[in-house]
Amino acid sequence: MTIPQQDKGQLIERAMSVRAQAYAPYSQYNVGASLLTESGEIFDGVNVENAVNSEGICAERNAVFQAVAHGHQAFRAIAVATDNGGSPCGPCRQVLSEFGLDIVVYTIDSEGKIILETTVGDLLPAAFGPKYLPGKE
Ligand code: THU
Repeated sequence: MTIPQQDKGQLIERAMSVRAQAYAPYSQYNVGASLLTESGEIFDGVNVENAVNSEGICAERNAVFQAVAHGHQAFRAIAVATDNGGSPCGPCRQVLSEFGLDIVVYTIDSEGKIILETTVGDLLPAAFGPKYLPGKE
């Protein structure tokens, strides 16, 4: 899927900007994610950590859940801004894959440099999906 240059630039800017709202007092690793819907809207997420380690949430999943809560289920791209262009974790790849293997993924460092430009399908080969479940083949 090709993302127009203007949308790509806007998405990256949004992810870099929302990153400042991350709540990451334990890891100090702030993450901002911005998700572009098929209809052209953008939904943001940040990582939100917790004193009970496992109860935090990643920025990418937060962005997906925000978008779904606002009635969107078709996505074109996600930009993930971190200090060093870190790649989405496994659970985030799985959640994104539910909505399409063609979603474009950009990872961005603190300077705005694109470190990785790929797709969910490339990040999660042979993904488990609804096709494996009874009645969904
Ligand atoms: N984190 C994300 O928000 N997204 C990822 O894909 C990788 C990790 C967060 C989780 C935690 O708050 C911090 O980064 C360090 O792991």
